[in-house]
Amino acid sequence: MSPIPWSLLPDNAAVGPEGQLLIGGVDTLELAHEFGTPLFVYDEDHLRARCAAAFEAFGPSATYASKAFLCRAMARLAAEEGLGIDVASGGELHVCLAAGVPPERLVFHGNNKSPNELRYALDAGVGRIVIDSFDELDRLEALLSEAAATAPADEEQQRPKVLLRITPGIKAETHDYIATGQDDSKFGFTVSTGVAAEAVERAQASPWIELVGLHAHIGSQVFRVDSFAAAVDVLARFANPLDLDELVVGGGLGVAYVEGEEAATISQWSSIITKAAAEAGVTATLGVEPGRAIAAAAAVTLYTVGTVKDIPGIRTYVSVDGGMSDNPRPVLYGSGYETFLPRAVKADREAEVRLVGKHCESGDLLVREAKMPTDLAIGDIVATPVTGAYGHSMGSNYNKILRPAVVFVRNGQARLVVRRETYDDLLATDVDDG
Ligand code: LLP
Repeated sequence: MSPIPWSLLPDNAAVGPEGQLLIGGVDTLELAHEFGTPLFVYDEDHLRARCAAAFEAFGPSATYASKAFLCRAMARLAAEEGLGIDVASGGELHVCLAAGVPPERLVFHGNNKSPNELRYALDAGVGRIVIDSFDELDRLEALLSEAAATAPADEEQQRPKVLLRITPGIKAETHDYIATGQDDSKFGFTVSTGVAAEAVERAQASPWIELVGLHAHIGSQVFRVDSFAAAVDVLARFANPLDLDELVVGGGLGVAYVEGEEAATISQWSSIITKAAAEAGVTATLGVEPGRAIAAAAAVTLYTVGTVKDIPGIRTYVSVDGGMSDNPRPVLYGSGYETFLPRAVKADREAEVRLVGKHCESGDLLVREAKMPTDLAIGDIVATPVTGAYGHSMGSNYNKILRPAVVFVRNGQARLVVRRETYDDLLATDVDDG
């Protein structure tokens, strides 16, 4: 059985003098030693290259979906590469503002933004608010009319620029939990029922907001790029007669996680979208919101092997020091990953094992059918590649396990961007000290 496919590793992966994995010129075994495990290691230049590819195709209308992975360093990086940032909660908004991202570069999403979140976004002056429902439109208008009533009479009221989230009726081929474009969805105004048209009328008639465009997102981890072309076509038929300035087609480009999978690059995806839009006669400025395609393959997670349980005739369980709290995707979506030993990147992986975490659940697995070199031993550092998106960001403290640290590596240097949690962090919000 073959070594780990090189294509699953970050752009700046290399083999070191002892056969070990280097990322960005840094020895991953030394990183594990210095920062401990589990550890998220991001190839910073890989992240920058993916942001640059999106920017090249869409300019500042390319927006990074921060739900994939967010910390201040990541927000700054995306902004430095010229991208806007999609935030889907007051919390994501807060982190981006704390990172110094100019508020006008932020796009505020979510299907149930609270009055407090909307107020925060308005006060901060976010660039776009994406309205998802009539209830939200009501809430936003109420806040704006309240603010106008208390403002000095001579103060001119700024109307926030908004987009409407449209549900185009496209069922993307992906896991049901992350398909969002079909009519049966909690997100957005449905085109087929006429609700989207009604929303446009209401938004255009509102004295409180300025409708600048439409937004749709058909789903995530979508491999078939023709789904995006189909979505652009449906959206264009609805959007073109309205003659609005902006049309954002969301994120969703799939990435390869395991051997044999192949995905389009950001540039290929962008050309398909731009071509479909041109063919459909779109004149609005096109925007996209990739998350996974920017962050996923940029990172590997390093773990330490703690126990190996061999059940003859059944299987071998290899337990590491993390699990569903740093990567819930295998448990949530049945997602597949690969694993390998960074001390021997090119080694054949002849042993079949199940890589599991340390949580008190049988379902806590990281790689169901893992291939490993046969000399795997206790204390080894193991790596799972393509963990840069929806791993750290969907992490938890289940079993009060501490959230891992995150390092960015580049040009032979590592910098800690998120420190590992401490036991005291677990008590930071616990106010009953007896
Ligand atoms: N824009 C909107 C409005 C979204 O809802 C999303 C993802 C994106 C952009 C970015 O999509 P991406 O390019 O990353 O596919 N936790 C799931 C993925 C959930 C995606 C939610 N929305 C997973 O781990 O697969």
